Parts: sequence; C-alpha cells; structure tokens
Amino acid sequence: MKPRNAYEQKLMKKSGEIAAKALKRAMETIKTGVTELEVDEAVKKEIYKLGGDLSYKTVPGYKYATCITVNEEVVHGIPTVRKFEDGDIVSVDLAVMYKGWHTDCAWSVLVRGQVTGDRQQEEEKKKFLQVGEEALWEGINQAVPGNRVGDISNAIQTKVEASGYQVVRSLVGHGVGKSLHEDPEIPGFGRKGMGPVLKSGMTLAIEVIYTRGSSDVVVAEDGWTFVAADNSWGGLFEMTVIVGERVEVLTDWRKA
Ligand code: MF3
Ligand code: CO
Repeated sequence: MKPRNAYEQKLMKKSGEIAAKALKRAMETIKTGVTELEVDEAVKKEIYKLGGDLSYKTVPGYKYATCITVNEEVVHGIPTVRKFEDGDIVSVDLAVMYKGWHTDCAWSVLVRGQVTGDRQQEEEKKKFLQVGEEALWEGINQAVPGNRVGDISNAIQTKVEASGYQVVRSLVGHGVGKSLHEDPEIPGFGRKGMGPVLKSGMTLAIEVIYTRGSSDVVVAEDGWTFVAADNSWGGLFEMTVIVGERVEVLTDWRKA
C-alpha cells in the first residue's frame, strides 16, 4: 500500500469518526432481549445520519451494516432475530465508506442484565475480553514507521497466548482505505522483524481474532459465520489506524 497523502488522510479520519460513532451506538444498543438485527439497524441509521455509507455493500452477497457474533462464533456472523441473553459475549464488526474511503472496526462486550448468573464464569469472560482489548492496543503501539508487520503480529500473539488463549490462524487484519481489504495482510501471530516495512501514512485495520481454546475456526451452516472449532468463546477487537511516529487511531468509539 502506498502511504496516504494529507487529503486522503483527512477523508480517512472523517470515515473513522463515523465508524467510531456507529460502533458506540452498537455498544449502547446491546442489551438483554435486544436482537442482532436491531443493533444492525441502529448502526445503519447512525452511519447514514452522519453522511457515511455501508462499506459491507462492497462485499458480494452481503447486505448488512454489521457482522454480529455471539459466544462461540468468532467472525462474519449475519445479524439475525436472535435475542441477546445475560452472559453472552457479543462482537460487532462494522465498516464505513465515506467519499470512497473505508474504515473498519470491531469490539466485543459481555451482556449483563438484572440476573447475575455464574459469578466465576462472568469473571472469566471479563478477563477474556480484557486480554483481547489489551492485545489490540499492544499491536497498535507497534504501528510506527520503520517497524514491520511482524512486530504488530508478534505483540498481539504474545499477549493473547500469555493469558492461555489462542489467536485464530486463518483470519487476519489488513490494509484498508480505497477498499475494505488491501495489502498488507496483518496476522495476529508471527515473528518480530518479519514482513513488510511500515511507512508513515499507511492505513491499517489491526485485528485481534482469538478464542479461549482452539486456533481453528469452522464455517457454520449459514455459509458465513466462522465458529471456534472447539465451540469455546470467540473475541474480536479491531481498529483502523494511521501509521506514524504517533500512531493515530481513527475508530476509537470511546472517544466518539
Ligand atoms: N470487517 C470484516 C473484516 O475485518 C469483513 C467482513 S465482510 C462481510 O475483514 F461481508 F462479512 F461483512
Ligand atoms: Co477487518
């Protein structure tokens, strides 16, 4: 990927602002009893309200604003009428297109309602999600000029595995901008100092795609959803960033 010029970066930032607000909207909407399609609808409305378009439209055969995955599902879940339940691990993945520029982001949360179920399992789920988020920030911190893709990959893998979890091997982060998926591929596993060199102005979608158990995923009956091969839990954390001496995170929903 060629580094983006100042004008292109401006459009990417605007696209990222819309994505961050949409992801925030998704996080606010996820509650016990709410359906996946209701979250998708809320995200779609927010993106359109802010002048963005659905990046997933560019994926042949896909017509939703988001991918939503629950518990053992890892990525690419099609939003359905299924209602969230107490204790579900829910991941929302969404991408925005603004004046032709794409940004991509995802986050995972624990659904907590009135009833407190299994305390210990709740603590385990919280820890699982905490580790994925920390792995994402550690990967992002490596997105500085002169580093290589492997430095990002290794930071993610080290954090995830130190906690006893596994990075999924067959799904990766990616360059993003003129299209949703561009080179380079950014695996969540690999060796320091390996892979393409990062240059200031590159725009990357860094992703932590991991499970509590197996590093393998299998495709579900719907032909889209990837599920942890051992049916353990799946987690997904993704942000679009601009490589720079100070890496710039474009899709941080907490700052939206
Ligand atoms: N956001 C996903 C990614 O990071 C892409 C989902 S494509 C879809 O690669 F068609 F499944 F929505
Ligand atoms: Co992505």
